[in-house]
Amino acid sequence: MPMTPANTPNRLNELSAQEWLRFTKTWFVHNPPPRKKQERLHPAKYPENMIAEFIRFFTKEGAAVFDPFLGTGSTLVACHTTNRDGIGIELQEKYAVIAKDRLAKLEGQLKLSKEGGKRFSKQIVIKGNSADVDTLWKEYSLPQVDLVITSPPYGPMLNKKGLAAKEREEEGLDVKYSDDSTDLGNAYGYDDFLQKLVAIFVKIKPLVKENGHLVVVLQNYMDKGNYKMLAWDFAREMTKHYQLRGEKVWCQDNKTLFPYGYRYSFVPNVHHHYCLIFKNIRKENI
Ligand SMILES: C[S@@+](CC[C@H](N)C(=O)[O-])C[C@H]1O[C@@H](n2cnc3c(N)ncnc32)[C@H](O)[C@@H]1O
Repeated sequence: MPMTPANTPNRLNELSAQEWLRFTKTWFVHNPPPRKKQERLHPAKYPENMIAEFIRFFTKEGAAVFDPFLGTGSTLVACHTTNRDGIGIELQEKYAVIAKDRLAKLEGQLKLSKEGGKRFSKQIVIKGNSADVDTLWKEYSLPQVDLVITSPPYGPMLNKKGLAAKEREEEGLDVKYSDDSTDLGNAYGYDDFLQKLVAIFVKIKPLVKENGHLVVVLQNYMDKGNYKMLAWDFAREMTKHYQLRGEKVWCQDNKTLFPYGYRYSFVPNVHHHYCLIFKNIRKENI
């Protein structure tokens, strides 16, 4: 039988043709639902429903997914929902505890539900430094993964005291992850941050299956009058190690607009993020 688009087996995922096509659009609006009290402590959580869509596109059920900057565990919650195995590394004990708590609740609910008999996905939360990802992988005897999906700290960005940060501070919520010197968010300046971030992804390369994907959610941002092109600079550095496949721009349409620069100069309210998509092809083919 001749191969046609209709009878070619789907090597990547289990989506219908319509779902596949819809996902390939390069922008989308996703307004995260209000966060639960425990999750609000963290300054920059991403929505698990949105991540579940990426996981469904880039993997099949039973695949393995990794998040090197786990935060409150949203990626593993999405893995649980989509029945993929997940591994996450988080530097801060307080966030790793939130991640474990969220997963324990979900696993408890699954045991009680009608679906209790189905295959249980396995979620592993590791409290550690992703700069040591190679050592941690050996220590925990972890397998190669099909997908890496994550949002790293957005540069030394959270250390700036913007208006949004002041509001959080007044509520007693974290405005930065920690004072830990190994926290990427505390890197010494932009170049140091970028170099450390890329070094982690270089260490991750052998842990990802050949032709597996990486989705990295990042933002450009304003820093003392200069616009830092973090997403673009990172993408350019990453193309030395991975194939850049494109981007999906995540727009948020329900965030407060702050009057930065009003009557003075253009200062953007940056309400979009880049979900950068890379493929782990062999180094000699890059
Ligand atoms: C943008 S947040 C991730 C939020 C996460 N996607 C969520 O939904 O909760 C980045 C996380 O990276 C963690 N982090 C910073 N440096 C790290 C490092 N060297 N190793 C592992 N985690 C680190 C921070 O503590 C923070 O929780």
